[in-house]
Amino acid sequence: MKLWVLFCLALLWVELQNGACQQPKRRKDVGENRIRPGGKRVKVRHPKLKDGGVKGQSLLTQVLDKGRFLRLGQTTTMTPGKNMELRCKGSNIGWSYPAYLDTFNDSRLSIKQSDKYSQLILTSPSAADTGPYSCWVIVCDGTECEKDHDHVYVSHIYFTDKDNLFVPSAIHFEIVYLRPDRPAVVPCPVTNPQAKVSLHREVPAEEIPANGTTVTYDPTKGFILQSPSLDHQGVLYCKAVTRGTPQISIKYQLLYVEVPSGPPFVSLEASPESVRGGDNLNVTCTVLGEPEVDISFIWFYPGQDHRPVHVQTSWRLINRGLGHTTRISQSVMTVEDMETIDFGNYMCKAKNPHGETIVTIDIISK
Ligand SMILES: *[C@@H]1O[C@H](CO)[C@@H](O)[C@H](O)[C@H]1NC(C)=O
Ligand SMILES: *[C@@H]1O[C@H](CO)[C@@H](O)[C@H](O)[C@H]1NC(C)=O
Ligand SMILES: *[C@@H]1O[C@H](CO)[C@@H](O)[C@H](O)[C@H]1NC(C)=O
Repeated sequence: MKLWVLFCLALLWVELQNGACQQPKRRKDVGENRIRPGGKRVKVRHPKLKDGGVKGQSLLTQVLDKGRFLRLGQTTTMTPGKNMELRCKGSNIGWSYPAYLDTFNDSRLSIKQSDKYSQLILTSPSAADTGPYSCWVIVCDGTECEKDHDHVYVSHIYFTDKDNLFVPSAIHFEIVYLRPDRPAVVPCPVTNPQAKVSLHREVPAEEIPANGTTVTYDPTKGFILQSPSLDHQGVLYCKAVTRGTPQISIKYQLLYVEVPSGPPFVSLEASPESVRGGDNLNVTCTVLGEPEVDISFIWFYPGQDHRPVHVQTSWRLINRGLGHTTRISQSVMTVEDMETIDFGNYMCKAKNPHGETIVTIDIISK
């Protein structure tokens, strides 16, 4: 009995100390009844059934008129223009919603947390707000809080608009990179899951059939090319129809990229090839890689910390025939008026999100 009193006091103390998580949190214990300071019994959570989150009863609900609630399933269709209120049960809840709403820092969106639930309100939603809305329980241990991956609830909400069968996009032309090692998506999601959608090539004008294996359609994402090849390159668009006139999506330029993901491919060159004291030296570190992967360069060199050098970093896209696109990222280190301390090993470390590669070159005095 005494132990329980101590435990409760300790818990209370932890919660009082815990500025970062404003409300009392349930710890992540699973499969054991616990008693909270109020003496209330906390329901046993079901043991994990890891499958990405959606399982059991969703805590994500929509508030309907007259205080009725609708538990949201994997997809929900709503009417644009009518304010949306979602709730998620729990005293500490995180949310995600279409990135579009953050990009434009939209004041139509508001989120409020109260003791028992969190509320997300989106006023005057439109077709562009179509997308996944998700909430999850945040669990805290002391001041460290994290997403409880077993309690994530998501619903893809369609704001069906007959004038915008495709989710409107801020751009009119999009580039889709095709890689041999992973599926590519032609992102033309719709606002009405009942729409009939097809994929078309501009020149030569033809439909690319989605037969459920090599090309599939997912109304929340668009067309998925399971194993992209050079043949898929070109300018494509999607066409959607429910009743009446078909609608056309924006255009997509599909480009084939050969370089598979991995640490950067780096080469290092010195110019001129032989250097004497007093010469100027350029050392160039070059990475060939995927178009949208940023590379960072770090240099180590003999005169480090002793003499000023000049480093210039740049990148550009090159088309290597047949539409293969590669990004060349370069960092050039220039050492002017070479002195004795400048001879030795020059090392370039190139880093991308998949790893890093180090290359060195020895600069010897002639
Ligand atoms: C977003 O809007 C809010 C209020 O309108 C403002 O305080 C905030 O600085 C804005 N943030 C960005 C990143 O623009
Ligand atoms: C789908 O099309 C691809 C290529 O066009 C073909 O190889 C595949 O057998 C087709 N699958 C079905 C189920 O028809
Ligand atoms: C070093 O690079 C700069 C700028 O790219 C160039 O103007 C210069 O001629 C190069 N010097 C040598 C020695 O290659």
